[in-house]
Amino acid sequence: MRCLLIASLLAGIVGSVSGHRAPVTARKSLGFGPVHPHAVYRSNSHQITVNNFLPQSPDADPLEVARLFIDDILGPNQVQSSYKIRPDSYTDPSTGITHIYVRQVVHGIEVADGNMNINVKDGKILSYGNSFFAGTPPALIATPDSRKLRHLHREYCEDLNAELEKHLSVFTSIQNKQTPMGGQVMAELDASAGHLTHLHSSNCEFDGLADEMASKRPQAIGDIGDMRPALLQFMVAATPKSEMVNVILSKYDEHLAKMSVSGVNHLTPDGEQTYLYVDNVPDTVNPVKASIAYTQVPSEDGSIELVTVWKFEVEMENNWYEAAVSANAPHRIISVVDWASDAPLPVPETPKEPASYNVFAWGINDPSDGNRTLQKENFDGLASPVGWHSLPFVNDPSFKGVKPSNAFYRNTSTTFGNNVFAQENWEGQNAYLNNYRPDAGSTSMYDFQYKPKVSDSDEAMDVARSYINATVTQLFYTSNMIHDLYYRYGFTELAGNFQQYNFGRGGREGDAVIANAQDGSGFNNANFMTPPDGTNGRMRMYLWNTANPYRDGDFEAGIVIHEYSHGLSTRLTGGPLNSGCLGWGESGGMGEGWGDFLATSIRSTANYSDYPMGAWAANRPRGIRNYPYSLDETVNPSTYQTLDKPGYWGVHAIGEVWAQILWLVSQALIEEHGFSETLYPPLPLENGTLPANDFYRPAAGKKPLVPKHGNTLSVQLVINGMKLQPCQPSFFDARDAIVLADEELTGGENFCTLWKAFSLRGLGTDASVQGRTPWGGGIRSNGFATPATCSE
Ligand SMILES: *[C@@H]1O[C@H](CO)[C@@H](O)[C@H](O)[C@H]1NC(C)=O
Ligand SMILES: *[C@@H]1O[C@H](CO)[C@@H](O)[C@H](O)[C@H]1NC(C)=O
Ligand SMILES: *[C@@H]1O[C@H](CO)[C@@H](O)[C@H](O)[C@H]1NC(C)=O
Ligand SMILES: *[C@@H]1O[C@H](CO)[C@@H](O)[C@H](O)[C@H]1NC(C)=O
Ligand SMILES: *[C@@H]1O[C@H](CO)[C@@H](O)[C@H](O)[C@H]1NC(C)=O
Repeated sequence: MRCLLIASLLAGIVGSVSGHRAPVTARKSLGFGPVHPHAVYRSNSHQITVNNFLPQSPDADPLEVARLFIDDILGPNQVQSSYKIRPDSYTDPSTGITHIYVRQVVHGIEVADGNMNINVKDGKILSYGNSFFAGTPPALIATPDSRKLRHLHREYCEDLNAELEKHLSVFTSIQNKQTPMGGQVMAELDASAGHLTHLHSSNCEFDGLADEMASKRPQAIGDIGDMRPALLQFMVAATPKSEMVNVILSKYDEHLAKMSVSGVNHLTPDGEQTYLYVDNVPDTVNPVKASIAYTQVPSEDGSIELVTVWKFEVEMENNWYEAAVSANAPHRIISVVDWASDAPLPVPETPKEPASYNVFAWGINDPSDGNRTLQKENFDGLASPVGWHSLPFVNDPSFKGVKPSNAFYRNTSTTFGNNVFAQENWEGQNAYLNNYRPDAGSTSMYDFQYKPKVSDSDEAMDVARSYINATVTQLFYTSNMIHDLYYRYGFTELAGNFQQYNFGRGGREGDAVIANAQDGSGFNNANFMTPPDGTNGRMRMYLWNTANPYRDGDFEAGIVIHEYSHGLSTRLTGGPLNSGCLGWGESGGMGEGWGDFLATSIRSTANYSDYPMGAWAANRPRGIRNYPYSLDETVNPSTYQTLDKPGYWGVHAIGEVWAQILWLVSQALIEEHGFSETLYPPLPLENGTLPANDFYRPAAGKKPLVPKHGNTLSVQLVINGMKLQPCQPSFFDARDAIVLADEELTGGENFCTLWKAFSLRGLGTDASVQGRTPWGGGIRSNGFATPATCSE
């Protein structure tokens, strides 16, 4: 009841300030799950205390080292609990660190949130994260009573309500005081409360329904039960369309009967999870992938229990969910991650002539920042061995003919290549193969007109469409530049990057980024969906109706970089095949923050400046975040404790705090090591060695290459940190992983620089948090202390 009251109160306020605000398209997105109080991340050798494990010889097989270590951690528990080392584990050639991802298995069934990530080098454990279930496993299939599940669900709904109440009280107090900034703060509270209310209504309102739904839960190991009721229940919460909810509820049995299940017991050769496929699920665009698993659920007395769940991968028009729904009626949604993230906002036969593009060059953030010029295809032999416009015939989903017998690669004359498929998507649909792309013919010259002009509002869309050639060209260029940049910092095939073909260099292929320009599914936003390695990522860029002529997000590099970086952080955290590690709370927030930080670092120059995000597209000088990124506390006052403020439950607000902290960290490194004009490492010479230049420090032995300057080093440490941190990292875990990354890369040269910079905004050694909830709850305390060795 209370929620409805807030919704209407806030809706009134929106009306009164809407003149100053761009209309926002709210894509519905669910994201929550249990907090694991027992999860640990240990990144400091003193903390890695074990029973009998001893470091092994430097040339020991890292997998064997990990096995010994895991056996030691599990100890006597191992009788009931086993594990499997996931196939996306890899040794990173640039650091020599082996990242090993482990999934817990109980009674032959995976524990979906029982993860270990173990980082091994030279026979030693550098760090590890562990969220394995540590209690006594249930007898075969778990049958917790529904009272406990109800309790869990009620707790979520209560946490949500508490957060809403916090909003309401701040809102009322501002309203009473009538402060000059009141309108703005109220508008922000309103937007934030709108999302919370929405989450509440989709998760907490259909409380009675669950009990009525029939269930055939799995009765024994090997019995798969019937997951359809649980799936249908999930769709009620997931669908963004209220009429669809009614359709499902009124024709429940009919829908159930139509849903067909296939693929039973189809075990893949590499021993991966068995999946079932469910067809004809309302409001989905592809068959739902389903599997049975255990998941860990906190119960009333604070202990953790294993619950049998159905895991679903549900692809919808605007969302791509990974959900765990209790296999016992009532079918509670236990956790859900949306793989979609919004922003507000062989050697080539012969090298081809590089293509040219008339674009805003790399480093120009948006049209207010410079003019278009002719830029050449990057041709980084390491990152894109066959350039941006070639891909093997057999890896090309658009090729329907017969492959010429003497050719392996197909050359395209459009914005379609091994890393990126860029096209218009005015219809806003999921199909993209036959959408329009600019064609350079035989010239390799993508030089198209971009002349936006003021028009009547009903013609604004036509004006934008008139330069579609230029906008798709820009999106293709920027996305490929990002691919090549991140590649050189370690987002390679093995690490789960996005490529149609992997040149035999490991990882899973068939996953170029589908990049849609002027996507018709929304306005004033952008988003990116990151399924696991081997399935295409999808970027959707929107027009912004914030000005006349409309502004086209494709031309704002910061937005494209932010979006692509979701793919980077999601694939690197917890391993390439686990896309569920940055779903909500602090980890989801950092998923946003990394993108802002990287976009801001890419546009920054030797002359320091503060930067907002999305200012051009949003036509608002301070951009789409609360504050610009700044060294100045009066310009950006965010600290760790800011996360406790109302309005900071959502991932974008949390991300803004993280990006601000990283910005200070990078500035501290720049102060220490100077600034490199380019973030791109030099191209290797014909003989495969790097030319001597100023980018890396002189290489010593087989040590990893160390970027010499502060800005390049900070990008490297942030990316290496993503690989070292656990699934669902907290701010503390991500901070510790960056400190460890420096330890590994430079021998810990920047230990104190990093700690001092983190402590500036409260993320020092004595920072603390109590009682975190997925809605941003908990009590945080800033800590400004640094390790004892740093205080002189
Ligand atoms: C692709 O282009 C390269 C260089 O221009 C050429 O050697 C190769 O034969 C082309 N491939 C096909 C299938 O035309
Ligand atoms: C673009 O070029 C025009 C004319 O050459 C110039 O007046 C304008 O200042 C330039 N814009 C930017 C953002 O540099
Ligand atoms: C895009 O470019 C093609 C080829 O140059 C041209 O024929 C077409 O008219 C252009 N489209 C628009 C909307 O300008
Ligand atoms: C930085 O600012 C100084 C002084 O304003 C100027 O001389 C210099 O050209 C600027 N450098 C860059 C890279 O913009
Ligand atoms: C690679 O080529 C460069 C330039 O030709 C040369 O200076 C360097 O010594 C070569 N390195 C090796 C390992 O052959």
